[in-house]
Amino acid sequence: MQSHLACFNPACRARYDITTVLYNCPKCDGLLEARYDFGDLDAESLKKTWRERRMSNAPLCQSGVWRYRELFPFVDDDRHIVTLREGNTPLLEGPRAAEYGGLARITFKHQGFNPTGSFKDNGMTGGVAQARRLGMKRVACVSTGNTSASMAAYASAGGLEPLIFIPHGNISYGKLAQALEYGAKTFQVEANFDQILALVRVLAERLGIYLLNSINPFRIEGQKSIVIEMMDQRDWRVPDWIVLPGGNLGNVSAFGKGLREMHELGFIDRLPRLAVVQAQGASPFYEYMCAQGKKPFRAQEHPETLATAIKIGDPVSWPKAQFEIETTNGVVERVTEQEIADAKAIIGQCGIGCEPASAATLAGIRKLTANGVISRGADVVAVLTGNVLKDPDYIYRYHTGQLKAPDDSMIKATFGNAPVVVPNDAERIAELIS
Ligand code: F0G
Repeated sequence: MQSHLACFNPACRARYDITTVLYNCPKCDGLLEARYDFGDLDAESLKKTWRERRMSNAPLCQSGVWRYRELFPFVDDDRHIVTLREGNTPLLEGPRAAEYGGLARITFKHQGFNPTGSFKDNGMTGGVAQARRLGMKRVACVSTGNTSASMAAYASAGGLEPLIFIPHGNISYGKLAQALEYGAKTFQVEANFDQILALVRVLAERLGIYLLNSINPFRIEGQKSIVIEMMDQRDWRVPDWIVLPGGNLGNVSAFGKGLREMHELGFIDRLPRLAVVQAQGASPFYEYMCAQGKKPFRAQEHPETLATAIKIGDPVSWPKAQFEIETTNGVVERVTEQEIADAKAIIGQCGIGCEPASAATLAGIRKLTANGVISRGADVVAVLTGNVLKDPDYIYRYHTGQLKAPDDSMIKATFGNAPVVVPNDAERIAELIS
């Protein structure tokens, strides 16, 4: 099986050996992607093999990423792989959320069930495998929190030294706590995500550290497994829409690539439409796509949102995301802080729960059904990217009417559920309950 790195820019398409340490094309500065010669891969027999692996106790078969390794065959030696049994995340029905979103039915693919509580684990196991294959000792990332939590865990589990760079004061404690607990050297930099990414790229080059941001093509390869597993769980029935929150735009790029490859190889008979939802205060991709090619991509210098996971003004993967949205006849939407907060509470009421960025999906769906882009009867899968416990502070503030938007306006506790302080008095409590 032949694999190589290729420039994503259609005007360049330069090729590099799969073991070259590169994040951008040296010729044109374009994004890079892993490409394979899949040969005569038989979709039907692989579907069977993947099902059988679910019954196995072998670690790589138990992984909801490496179970599907034939679709990202870049690893030459399985001993490089570090698995924490990532993936295996459920498809959940949320009737209350469907009603709120203007749909007859909705399914959530809940990536918050991953070992470190977010979809980053699917990609990180891929990136760390490549780091170990390349003989790297140290790995680094800049993160709004989830990437760092995931990288810390996988690097430490694999005997690598994790170095983490995060915007000072702008990530949730749940995520920072994970990085510390998993033993990462953690730098809180007084700059925003986009500025720190530029800084870390310089440091990585100078100090020979392997960069594990989503610009790393092997992270994207691992993340393809989310949509492969989703199709497997749906017995290969393609939904009409897949809805994702958009920050750095790595995830939509991975979904698009995975879907195209599955389509080309005969695993699925059509492509679903992809919808990306951004927070209004951090929506450079939305603005770019709305301009329909009339304006160049422009980064947002001061992104603002309480959904800190997607507080990104200069998403690196926008060219890939644009390609995948156009290829799937997809759309980009944006939603306000209030819309995110209310949608999140509704997902919570379904007994499901998620972190703020993930709830942008349901908020976006509500808008897209209201304006007729998504029809009520459509088969829609929304990807919940992070666990409800990633940002408990946000939850408490919302339910107690204390959540403030970045512009200092109060978020209304539309679906608030504040705790009640009571005396130690059975009579009084009985009265309150009945
Ligand atoms: N949802 C969550 C919970 C995230 O953590 C992120 C990204 C996204 C959505 C957006 O995904 O960047 O692929 O478009 N978090 C990154 C991080 C940036 O550093 O953890 P994307």
